[in-house]
Amino acid sequence: MDRWAKWLLERRFGAGPPQPDQAAGLSVIRDRVLDGARLEDGARLLDVGAGDGLIAFGAIERGAREVVFSDISDDLLEHARGLAASLGVLDRCAFVHASADDLSAFEESSFDAVTTRSVLIYVERKREALDEFHRVLRPGGRISLFEPINRFGARYRVEETFWGYALDDLQEVTAKVHAVYAALQPDTDPMLDFDERDLLELARDAGFLPIEVDLNAQLVRPPAVSWDLFVSIAGNPMIPSLAEAMNEALSLAEREQLTSRLRPLVEAGGGVSHSAVAYLTGARPTQ
Ligand SMILES: C[S@@+](CC[C@H](N)C(=O)[O-])C[C@H]1O[C@@H](n2cnc3c(N)ncnc32)[C@H](O)[C@@H]1O
Repeated sequence: MDRWAKWLLERRFGAGPPQPDQAAGLSVIRDRVLDGARLEDGARLLDVGAGDGLIAFGAIERGAREVVFSDISDDLLEHARGLAASLGVLDRCAFVHASADDLSAFEESSFDAVTTRSVLIYVERKREALDEFHRVLRPGGRISLFEPINRFGARYRVEETFWGYALDDLQEVTAKVHAVYAALQPDTDPMLDFDERDLLELARDAGFLPIEVDLNAQLVRPPAVSWDLFVSIAGNPMIPSLAEAMNEALSLAEREQLTSRLRPLVEAGGGVSHSAVAYLTGARPTQ
C-alpha cells in the first residue's frame, strides 16, 4: 500500500477503528460539505482527493447521477472501487488518477460540483488547484471544501506546550521530539503555509463568486484516551506516530521520563487542544 492508503486505512485512528466521536465528527463534516455543494438530483460531482470515499459515497446516497473519485493514490482508488462494487453503485462511480493541481483529465465545464475534504493541505500548488476547480465546473457549479487550518495554534502546540499538554519542566526532552516533526514538516510545508484568508483569496482569484468561508476555531479539553492509542496515532501520512518519534529521538531514560509525565495527562484528558477548520463554498458565476 502507498503511504496515503496506509495512513487512511490503517494509521489515522491508531491501531483500530475510529472512536465513536471521531466517526461522528467525520459524518458532520461530510454532511456539511455536501450541503455546501447543493447537489441536485442527477448532478455530476468530482470529489478531489476522494480517499476511501467519505464525501463521494455520501454524494451517491444523496442522488448524484455520477461521482468521479479522483486521487493521486492508486491504492485508494482501487479500494474505493471495491467499496463501490460491494455497495452496488459501481455504475454511478468513476475512478481517475489525478492531482488536484492538474485536472487535465477532465473537460472544462463538465461538473456540477467539486468537493474536497482535507486535501488542499497536502497540495503545494493550491492556486493551480483552485483554478482547476473553476475550470472543470459548469457556470453555476459549486465548490464545497473543508480544510484544517493547521497554522492556527501551531505555536501553542509546539512552543508553549507539548501538543496541548503542559510539560514546562521537560522542555529539553520535548524539543527533541518536536524536532523530528519540524524536520519533516517545517512552517513552509503545504499543511502549514496557509489559512482561511488565503483560501478565500485563492477562490476569488480563480473567479468564484459568491464565496463564503466559515472558520471554526476551538479550544477544548481533548477526550481522555488510552496511552497505547495516543502514541500509535500518526497525525497525517507524512509523519511518524508519537511512539515512533520518541524511539527515534529519545534515549530509553528520556522516553521513560516523558511517558511518566505525559501518560497521566493523556489518560485523564488533561490538556487543552487548539484547532481550527475552514469550510469554503463558492460558485462559478453564470456570466
Ligand atoms: C486526509 S485524506 C482525505 C480523504 C477523503 N477526502 C476523506 O474525506 O476522507 C487526503 C487524501 O488526499 C489525497 N491527496 C493527497 N495529495 C493529493 C493531490 N495532490 N491531489 C489529489 N489528491 C491528493 C490522498 O491520497 C488522500 O486520499
